[in-house]
Amino acid sequence: MYDWIRPLLFKLDAENAHRLTLYGLDVAHRSDLGRFVATPPPDLPVKTLGLRFLNPVGLAAGLDKNASHLDALGALGFGFIEVGTVTPRPQIGNDRPRLFRLPQHEAIINRMGFNNEGVDALVRNVQKSSYRGVLGINIGKNKDTPNEKAVNDYLFCLERVYAHATYITVNISSPNTKGLRDLQEEATLRRFIETLREAQERLGSQQSARKPMLLKIAPDLSEAELDSIAEVLLATGIDGVICTNTTIDHSAVANDPLGNETGGLSGKPLLSRSTEVMRGMHRRLGDRIAIVGVGGILEGQDAAEKIDAGASLVQIYSGLIYRGPALIAECVNEIRRQQEPRDGR
Ligand code: FNR
Repeated sequence: MYDWIRPLLFKLDAENAHRLTLYGLDVAHRSDLGRFVATPPPDLPVKTLGLRFLNPVGLAAGLDKNASHLDALGALGFGFIEVGTVTPRPQIGNDRPRLFRLPQHEAIINRMGFNNEGVDALVRNVQKSSYRGVLGINIGKNKDTPNEKAVNDYLFCLERVYAHATYITVNISSPNTKGLRDLQEEATLRRFIETLREAQERLGSQQSARKPMLLKIAPDLSEAELDSIAEVLLATGIDGVICTNTTIDHSAVANDPLGNETGGLSGKPLLSRSTEVMRGMHRRLGDRIAIVGVGGILEGQDAAEKIDAGASLVQIYSGLIYRGPALIAECVNEIRRQQEPRDGR
């Protein structure tokens, strides 16, 4: 069905197409037409992060920033959904246009800038929804909060979302909030994660339910930077790491008319770099910290490769725009197919 709708959506401005698609999904879901949207994948249970996932293929952050389409997205067959990034106060994000499709490269450039309705609105939407699957809530800071005070924004969001999330993602890797990625520097990151880890454990015992916390990192990090991040992850005992966010390296799309647009590049050109960063993290962390692989999954084989390179779970965003929801089952099936001979050994 998506093959038929896609050419129409690609005629629209990217952000309008995004809104229209989510609206259409909501309508289809409410009128019980959801089963025509995608064939749900088979179960492929995964236990990681102390949680059980129906399958290892999740929705990446940024598509449903306010958790306002959870029911419709939940019906597509994802093993888990991550909403956000959400900030303490609502913010409008950057000026439009700020979202660009590069179809020849099966890529997207975005400079959305954490447009969202604020953490309280997100929590209300989660409470209203009937989605009962694994829900990650991805938290960030407001644009006008200086980095020295960033941790307060993350603490504020953590406290608000804790009871409503299955896991929490700390996003310090968006290229579209000035200076945000500086929080990945070793000493800063150590203090920052330590503070959030303390709050996580305190909230866990207060609410008698410990929720795992994951850090989402950028693909644009040197080997030395990856070394120091891995050290901080191990020292602070964080539960997981998500590799990776979008890249600021546009060299792969330099020949595209939109290749020079400012923002983070995602989709196919990100695949090899994000998988390489993830593989490197797995080499450093072993199985001590769970790894989620995201970046450039456009077909089942890309997802299976990330699992093979050490990911317990994968996420997709741009692939959904180019391939539609059928990509979810394709990824689950390919991961399952490649695991079968291994399990049989
Ligand atoms: C994103 N991504 C993202 N990540 C995040 O942690 N918080 C966010 O708010 C957003 N927002 C966002 C908007 C848009 C339009 C895109 C395309 C992406 C990054 C996303 O979750 C993912 O890490 C990358 O897009 C790489 O995966 P794909 O798209 O190549 O599958």
